[in-house]
Amino acid sequence: MPLIIKDEYPEKLFREDGKRLDGRDKHELRPIKMEVGVLENADGSAYLEWGNNKIYAAVYGPREVHPHHLAKPDRGILRVFYRMATFSVFDRKRPAPGRREKEISMVITDCLEPVLFLELYPGTSFEVFINVMDADGGTRCACTTVAALALADAGVPMKSLVTAVAMGKIDGELITDLSGIEDKAGEADLPCAMTWFNEELSLLQFDGKMDLEEFSKCLTLGKEALTKIHEIQLDTLKKKYIEIQEELKGGENEQ
Ligand code: CDP
Repeated sequence: MPLIIKDEYPEKLFREDGKRLDGRDKHELRPIKMEVGVLENADGSAYLEWGNNKIYAAVYGPREVHPHHLAKPDRGILRVFYRMATFSVFDRKRPAPGRREKEISMVITDCLEPVLFLELYPGTSFEVFINVMDADGGTRCACTTVAALALADAGVPMKSLVTAVAMGKIDGELITDLSGIEDKAGEADLPCAMTWFNEELSLLQFDGKMDLEEFSKCLTLGKEALTKIHEIQLDTLKKKYIEIQEELKGGENEQ
């Protein structure tokens, strides 16, 4: 990919051979790698590499709410802290959380809340700290996906996992999983998240222009992409439990 300096975007987002600038087909996902239990000091944690995005999520809870006035007597609360490292983007990002980080934290909270049984944990909080170490488009979706995995790793009872992906449109074509440059220079960006217990969307944002038919096609293609990502989440969790099972078996054999 050519070096992009500041706001200089390429004129075309498809190459001569019809592929996207990073070599992908229109509906191909970037490579995705997930791992759980990566942080020693958290109740649950997960790491996600999604294309050039590199993200950690740490979960604590249920635990006492600080500050106390945020506690709810009849239910638990979910607090999400989305942060981007100063070195995670081309321009140095100011270290203090900005308006965008607060908005994305709120968006991720709304995506995850429907799968939790918060009514069973009055007066307590679940906290999810998400740190984007390297950012390249679709971080709200990647963070939602890795946060759900970290909650599951913490053993928090959940109705299902939550998975998110950004659909979009570039140079007149619908595409799956926008990269940073496609997000900035493209025509439309449509991040969506699915809660699997009811197969409903818990996030649907839209920025740009497309007609209703394209919008509907994006949702259909989005579901296909979400299904693939959900399978990777499930495989990642299963891998952890298979490893624990094997360790236990090994221990029994030694006795
Ligand atoms: O990351 P997401 O697409 O969910 O949110 P966005 O606000 O649409 O940002 C799109 C991309 O712009 C991010 O993923 C980063 O790669 C980049 N970005 C940046 O370069 N500098 C910032 N201060 C914020 C975002």
